[in-house]
Amino acid sequence: MQGKSLIIGASGQIGIELVIALRKLRGESNVIASDLRDPVAEELKNGPFEIVDTLDRKRIESVIDQYGITEVYQLAALLSATSEKFPDKAWNLNMNGLFNILEIAKEKKLEKVFWPSSIAVFGPTTPKDSTPQFTIMEPTSVYGISKLAGERWCEYYYQKFGVDVRSLRYPGLIGFRSEPGGGTTDYAVDIFYHAIENARYSSFLSANTMLPMMMMEDAIRATITIMGAPAEKIAIRSSYNIAGMSFTPAQLAAEISKHIVGFRMDYSPDFRQSLADSWPSSIDDSYARRDWGWLPSYHLDSLVSTMLAEIRKKKLAHCETP
Ligand code: NAD
Ligand code: SER
Repeated sequence: MQGKSLIIGASGQIGIELVIALRKLRGESNVIASDLRDPVAEELKNGPFEIVDTLDRKRIESVIDQYGITEVYQLAALLSATSEKFPDKAWNLNMNGLFNILEIAKEKKLEKVFWPSSIAVFGPTTPKDSTPQFTIMEPTSVYGISKLAGERWCEYYYQKFGVDVRSLRYPGLIGFRSEPGGGTTDYAVDIFYHAIENARYSSFLSANTMLPMMMMEDAIRATITIMGAPAEKIAIRSSYNIAGMSFTPAQLAAEISKHIVGFRMDYSPDFRQSLADSWPSSIDDSYARRDWGWLPSYHLDSLVSTMLAEIRKKKLAHCETP
């Protein structure tokens, strides 16, 4: 019998795309989407959806029992910028949301758990270029502290209780299906909507802030690949570095200008600048490549052309809807 997946935080930027991809792969009825909020995306309405608060362990257990869930993707979290504004809420959600799943996985002997970490686990004392898998980790953001603690708990539950938990340190993710959810890398999504709308954008990060980024399609493929890999291939049980590309706001603007004549960018850095300054510029993902065959497929040029084409298509479809 095919196992069933539960996605918690399915109405978010990554969740929507992951549900779509997993349903294509495993069948609609085998992928149960869940979130605190109703699905806004039409794409989530073609299969089971449950309202689940990841802080409510009993509710998660009852959904797991109801559907016979065998693997859980725990995506619910507050992102970096929002976490700085609400540190208590971020710590509570990011840590206890993870604990609930790890405990349930231990008790119910779930086959697998996926939990995303982030480049925010690194800090200002980490080597910035080609940041290694194993290196100094002294994050200075609320979000980064919660993700680093989460990584240590994932490894602990694997070592002590045999919970098969797998994790990726996502870079900034760029997708066209939904609005970004309160992160420091959000500018690299927002910019496309403004560029199409009025050929101008004001960036909240400075022109030369180089950060690791990745096209959402690559991130989803990485997630599905690591979850599909044989357990013995997953040598790292904290979280894997994965890289797509690195660019600055100025480089992204220059690439967009090739498609939108007269596109103008100005810079007005805010509190998110200090978060970005504490993170790596580029990531060494050689362990992910070696252990489970990770390879990114998008570069800056293909990312920009895809984002512009897909957002234009979405806007057009929206205009045509009666
Ligand atoms: P998002 O903010 O778009 O989505 C998070 C979802 O979680 C939202 O739909 C929200 O309604 C839901 N949620 C919040 N509280 C909840 C609760 N108590 N119970 C159930 N659901 C709840 O975030 P995202 O960009 O999709 O990120 C998903 C995960 O990936 C997070 O753990 C984030 O830290 C991680 N991540 C994201 C990025 C990125 O660039 N987007 C990068 C690195 C790591
Ligand atoms: N993209 C995320 C953020 O900016 C990094 O985890 O919060």
